[in-house]
Amino acid sequence: MNLPEEAAARGPFWRRGGRLHVESVPLEAIAARHGTPCYVYSRAALESRFREFTAALAGRDHLLCYAMKANSNLAVLDVFARLGAGFDIVSGGELARALAAGADPRRIVFSGVGKSEAEMRAALAAGIGCFNVESAAELERLDRVAGAAGKRAPVSLRVNPDVDAKTHPYISTGLKENKFGIAHGEALGLYREAARRPNLELVGIDCHIGSQITEVAPYLEAVDRILALHDRLVAEGIALAHLDFGGGFGIRYRDEAPPPIAAFVAGILDRVGDRPVKLMFEPGRWLVGNAGILLTRVEYLKRGADRDFAIVDAAMNDLMRPALYDAWHDIVPVAPRDGPVRRYEVVGPVCESGDFLGHARELALAEGDLLAVLSAGAYGMSMSSNYNTRPRAAEVLVDGETVHLARERETVPMLYALERRLPG
Ligand code: LLP
Repeated sequence: MNLPEEAAARGPFWRRGGRLHVESVPLEAIAARHGTPCYVYSRAALESRFREFTAALAGRDHLLCYAMKANSNLAVLDVFARLGAGFDIVSGGELARALAAGADPRRIVFSGVGKSEAEMRAALAAGIGCFNVESAAELERLDRVAGAAGKRAPVSLRVNPDVDAKTHPYISTGLKENKFGIAHGEALGLYREAARRPNLELVGIDCHIGSQITEVAPYLEAVDRILALHDRLVAEGIALAHLDFGGGFGIRYRDEAPPPIAAFVAGILDRVGDRPVKLMFEPGRWLVGNAGILLTRVEYLKRGADRDFAIVDAAMNDLMRPALYDAWHDIVPVAPRDGPVRRYEVVGPVCESGDFLGHARELALAEGDLLAVLSAGAYGMSMSSNYNTRPRAAEVLVDGETVHLARERETVPMLYALERRLPG
């Protein structure tokens, strides 16, 4: 079925008669069928973001490696794999997930500062496209592990360009004080060393300066530094097949106004010019953040001495971002309600004062109402926990009028199934 007019105009999340829908499905129907809390993703939103990015790169050899840490549900990975995406992984677990979702191993890049030998072996056996190496010690280890496996490991060095991404300090990664990457000044020497190692094959340069970047300028500063290194390497006879500029493209949560992806890409293409390299990116949040919401129900309304609380059934264990980064997520009613608007602290049932989803939100509410926490598609479910022995939420992927249960709600016995009481 074609999406109705309103949906086409407003995107995958829209209202009809005040009732919030995802594609063709009312969120109330999803809550009734699958319960709350529940993550709800839109396939159309995922696909349109991916296509927007690839369209900006049209005519240029490129590969988008979705940073699956943002949302690693198999159904989400499957959507991207079918579109020809690669994947940026950071663990053996993510490797297994990507392969289980049908990823082409040659389109997988492996990032992260702490790759174990076992993870290296698994990635070599799978035949991944590139290891993004983050230190001299890792380079040495990878050479040894590849040699023992009788393979040559494809390698990029992740270079830390030392630029300020101007984002939250916890998610900034490209400054020299960060643990990530190889200092810009040391990169050339390490490339020379890597070129001499028998079991490594140099294929690219990688960088990633941080997340939720809402300005083009710092991104391009990093690009300039990577290009300078690239040119130097070429002059020394070290030719590289690709340049990977990482992810980090910001999205709108509240009033941020990140430039369109085409603006980032245009600036990058301009600088790269006719250098004969494949361009790679590792976007996470930009692809999935606004393609998902967290659906939750109001359990109680509580009048406090100073403040009113809306106690909902989702909590910091489901969505950590507010508690961890003081991140702002819009919280909107799923159905209209007449009645007085009050200012609520929207909080969960977890026993921590940091357990909130939003402060001072103006809402007209009654117990039992459904709320949607917006922009929850990235770093929501993937960072969730079982704190307070709370089963993790269900996840559904909506595709037109079809609701696909992408992950069942956990049950409590699952949570202690691996634990053992003392003997006797
Ligand atoms: N590549 C590398 C090497 C990364 O470390 C990351 C994210 C990405 C790509 C994807 O970045 P994105 O395009 O999603 O910005 N939990 C935080 C975000 C942490 C990002 C970690 N690295 C949050 O909820 O804001």
